[in-house]
Amino acid sequence: MTARKLAAGNWKMNGLAADLAEVEALAKAHPSPAVEVLICPPATLIAPMCTRIAGSAIAVGGQDCHAVEKGAHTGDISAQMLADAGATNVILGHSERRTDHYETDASVRLKTQAAWSADLVAIVCIGETLGEREDGETLDIVGGQLAGSLPDGCTAANTVVAYEPVWAIGTGKVPTLDQIAEVHDFLRARLEERFGAEGAGIPLLYGGSVKPSNADEIFGVSNVDGALVGGASLKAADFGGIIEALERAE
Ligand code: PGA
Repeated sequence: MTARKLAAGNWKMNGLAADLAEVEALAKAHPSPAVEVLICPPATLIAPMCTRIAGSAIAVGGQDCHAVEKGAHTGDISAQMLADAGATNVILGHSERRTDHYETDASVRLKTQAAWSADLVAIVCIGETLGEREDGETLDIVGGQLAGSLPDGCTAANTVVAYEPVWAIGTGKVPTLDQIAEVHDFLRARLEERFGAEGAGIPLLYGGSVKPSNADEIFGVSNVDGALVGGASLKAADFGGIIEALERAE
């Protein structure tokens, strides 16, 4: 099985109603992309974004969900609520969530199951810190995060894995292509070991300072099936350039 190609944008805590114009422009510029395209805006914009680009090829996702369906959890959002608002995917275990909200592999695993129960695709994020890389621990760290964050039952349809070195996020620093290949090949082998043919089809995204200017070379790396893009997903022109690079890599 070959993994499908996905260009996913993570708006993080950016975006007001006026910014929906960017995603409308993106949808107009890419009416039938050859790859999957996803934007994950802040929760407040999920429903209005779905309305604004209804009928387009762009999917909309959340940036986190709670592990349970409903209840006394002030300020949290469940997977069912995201789906109800029109989301089809949810990013889980982003390094900013792991740092700011003390999320662990165990909590990400529960959230992944919650996402599936609402028929959402879980985009599970893992990645090492600079200190871990300098200490030569990268593969141990990402291997442990992968094993701990993914529940049994991952399929090519219900799960995406995003490798995002923490030191590359929002910094303009990008690993060498060899470093990306080493991690992606390792993750692919681990996914196949655990999930068999489904593991071969789980999309593996690279994330961390992806831009139109470096996307072609990153998408040329083995086992890179797309990107999770932060800053460069906020502007239609930039994200459009990344979509086009992924189309070229087909
Ligand atoms: P960045 O963020 O593209 O701004 O580096 C990536 C991410 O955090 O998903």
